[in-house]
Amino acid sequence: MFDLSGRTALVTGAGQGVGLGIAATLLEAGATVFVNDLVPERAEAAATALGPNAHALPFSVADRGAVTAAVEQAVATVGPIDILVNNAGIPPSMRPVKFRDMDPAEWAAYVDVNLYGVINCVSATIDAMCERGWGRVITISSGAGTQGLNIGVSMYGAGKGGAISFMRHLAVETARSGVTANTLALGLMARDDDEQARTVTAAMAKQVPVGRLGTGRDIGVTCVFLASDEAEWITGQTIAVNGGSVTT
Ligand SMILES: NC(=O)c1ccc[n+]([C@@H]2O[C@H](COP(=O)([O-])OP(=O)(O)OC[C@H]3O[C@@H](n4cnc5c(N)ncnc54)[C@H](O)[C@@H]3O)[C@@H](O)[C@H]2O)c1
Repeated sequence: MFDLSGRTALVTGAGQGVGLGIAATLLEAGATVFVNDLVPERAEAAATALGPNAHALPFSVADRGAVTAAVEQAVATVGPIDILVNNAGIPPSMRPVKFRDMDPAEWAAYVDVNLYGVINCVSATIDAMCERGWGRVITISSGAGTQGLNIGVSMYGAGKGGAISFMRHLAVETARSGVTANTLALGLMARDDDEQARTVTAAMAKQVPVGRLGTGRDIGVTCVFLASDEAEWITGQTIAVNGGSVTT
């Protein structure tokens, strides 16, 4: 059950964090995985660490031409993309800032990666999925895309919410072609980069009903399920993966 042997996945923004966890879990389930990242060294290092069935594929999801060229190259060298996980979503410029305090020059970065990034990657892969009669698109969104939060993430939320809506329409348009399209709305995720982050993480964990923050593996196993043959009847959904945090 949930065997992904013979499937090829592309995980965007997978050089670190949640995306790296998703890539590792898809590999564990038998898939071949393209590890994308904006930072080429990050994609290369992650793919090397993940082993021979992982292939680095660096590009910016926000650059449509780069996405198309990279996917063409990937298909030519390894094979068609069966599973697309749109995980890239934190632009390098991200900082918490309320909308009224934001310089309009900052707006685009959030929408470019979170909405156009998803659209660009779907555009480069969806025709071949539909033609083959099988495909899985999973987009990593956030509670910031489903509810209002007073933590300075309005433009990030705009991109995340836009992608949720796009995915719902994509799901309905491609449902008769063997393709499913679902979104995961993540809650608070663990970041253990340094001591300060670990302290913040411990404090934040108390807010989560199950008592801990999420890990890349929590998200990875959900992706494995949604990417499996067995999940063919689940499409057009936005699934909260958040340790039981209440969402509206
Ligand atoms: N960390 C959280 O608490 C949290 C909560 C909810 C949702 N999310 C979502 O989970 C996903 C992963 O978050 P994370 O915390 O692991 O992020 P992260 O910043 O740790 O890693 C994301 C990776 O994406 C890459 N990236 C950024 N822009 C890119 C682009 N244009 N093209 C390709 N790669 C790009 C970065 O270089 C980085 O390596 C994001 O979509 C984020 O919005 C995270």
